[in-house]
Amino acid sequence: MINITKLAKSFGNNEVLKEISFNVEQGEFLIVLGSSGAGKSTLLRCINGLVTPTSGEVLINDMSVGKNNIRKIRKKVGMIFQGFNVIDNLSVLNNVLIGRLAYKSPLNILFSKEERRLAEEAIEMVGLNDKKNVRVDRLSGGQKQRVGIARVLVQNPEIILADEPVSSLDPVIGKEILELLREINQQRGTTIICNLHQLDYAKTFGKRIIGVRNGIIQYNGTPSNIKDNDLVNIYGEKFLNNIKSNKNEIKELQTI
Ligand SMILES: Nc1ncnc2c1ncn2[C@@H]1O[C@H](COP(=O)(O)OP(=O)(O)O)[C@@H](O)[C@H]1O
Ligand SMILES: [Mg+2]
Repeated sequence: MINITKLAKSFGNNEVLKEISFNVEQGEFLIVLGSSGAGKSTLLRCINGLVTPTSGEVLINDMSVGKNNIRKIRKKVGMIFQGFNVIDNLSVLNNVLIGRLAYKSPLNILFSKEERRLAEEAIEMVGLNDKKNVRVDRLSGGQKQRVGIARVLVQNPEIILADEPVSSLDPVIGKEILELLREINQQRGTTIICNLHQLDYAKTFGKRIIGVRNGIIQYNGTPSNIKDNDLVNIYGEKFLNNIKSNKNEIKELQTI
């Protein structure tokens, strides 16, 4: 459903993506794993047309992502962010209805009964039924991210791109949000690509992991096949030092 071919992006002399190629099947839950600066956000932004590649191509259902069909792409592809991107002084319901704006003409921004029903359904799916009319600034971080997810669901997207959706949340809440994304993937069949820098989340939730470092794919496979050597390629030498110190700790524990 998504075909990425020799995708490259430079900002000035900084080659951020270096001729990356991979495909994503419909209904996949794919994790893009890599340290800060690896090029993960740039990759997602190329997929939804927010960033124009220097060369190469992204196809979504055989349609080339580019300036000409950006509105069509926006209807198919929803995006979730680390910083939630919600409007604090609006209610949960109104934040979610904003997700419908891409479908409306600027001359008619009144929402229909059907659109309100869709919004309520999305709010229910993310578990915020009792908060529907609460202003978003009264909610916790995890609840705000749920609003961000409901706003995307109301667009009925075929693809959800999540850019480090749990990086501002504590681990327990982060896990709940990833569980919600997994539920959406399984129940609705929505294709999900989720950027993460944390290996433990990636292993728990990814059906497939693409590991990226310096704009190059270092690993493309299942979580269970990922080896220490792959992790050194993804995270660099600092990961090797971690392994060594862990092994030393284990040895120390065994000698006690
Ligand atoms: N709009 C931009 N202008 C210039 N440099 C950018 C821009 N966006 C990203 N970069 C650079 O691209 C590199 C990769 O960034 P990014 O894609 O955000 O990585 P990640 O999401 O993996 O942390 C970084 O060196 C960053 O500074
Ligand atoms: Mg990023």
